[in-house]
Amino acid sequence: MTPSGNNPAEPATATNAKPANAEEARVESGAAVLEGRNLRKVYGTGTRALTVLDDASIALRKSEMVAIVAPSGAGKSTLLHLLAALDTPTSGAIYFDAKALETRNEAALADFRNCAVGFLWQRHQLLPDFTATENVAMPLLLRGGDSASALETARKWLAEVGLSDRADHRAGELSGGEQQRVAIARALVTGPRVLLADEPTGDLDEQNAWAVFELLERLHRAHRLTSLIATHNLALAARCDRIVGLEHGVLRTREAQASAMGTLGGEAS
Ligand SMILES: Nc1ncnc2c1ncn2[C@@H]1O[C@H](COP(=O)(O)OP(=O)(O)OP(=O)(O)O)[C@@H](O)[C@H]1O
Ligand SMILES: [Mg+2]
Repeated sequence: MTPSGNNPAEPATATNAKPANAEEARVESGAAVLEGRNLRKVYGTGTRALTVLDDASIALRKSEMVAIVAPSGAGKSTLLHLLAALDTPTSGAIYFDAKALETRNEAALADFRNCAVGFLWQRHQLLPDFTATENVAMPLLLRGGDSASALETARKWLAEVGLSDRADHRAGELSGGEQQRVAIARALVTGPRVLLADEPTGDLDEQNAWAVFELLERLHRAHRLTSLIATHNLALAARCDRIVGLEHGVLRTREAQASAMGTLGGEAS
């Protein structure tokens, strides 16, 4: 399960095998900001072993906004967690700026998790008894930042997501859409280059879902992010640069429009 191009010490720029679909071709072209190559993830062992990702490859190029659309249980969260180094693959490798994560020491990995990637959790996981500002400032404080400047930066981010007037409210008192905007501010407060968003509109009504998605689009452009967004919403996904399907543990790229028409999952044309 470890093909020749899967040496973690080398950036993924070449392999002898012919690309099977557009996603693999993209991976092979190199120049990705964040890349997962031949990812396999098996939970459990023996008769309880569950293979969620089998041979999943994805390359996110600078400034791309990519959607992953796949059924519940297909492995979207699993993939995002691997790409954010929140979990480790059974085999395969993750590259950031063409350097394999597994070649980095613990301090560099912590830096990658805290600064290079902003992660928007499927359940936003705000601390309900802390204010919106304190929640947004948390990643900066965990990094050992000065508390006054962390809170000031957090307020700027709350302004950017349109929540200045809720800055001193407890997170638990905010609406679902407001909580998601706080979570977005928290994900971006450290100035990451990549945003990984796990069903950011999943718990929202249609109107709030569009508002949150438009906010993500605006922030993506304004901060020159590279974004990967897991969603069940094909209409929202169709606004991304491309859509990736995840089927039987393998990722396949489809053109946004074709995917939105419901033809996800086949070989790329
Ligand atoms: N820590 C774990 N241990 C064992 N199995 C797990 C673990 N995490 C996820 N799974 C299983 O892996 C599969 C994929 O889960 P995952 O959460 O990645 O799916 P998903 O595509 O994000 O689904 P959803 O759209 O419902 O969020 C599921 O069958 C799940 O039960
Ligand atoms: Mg999920």
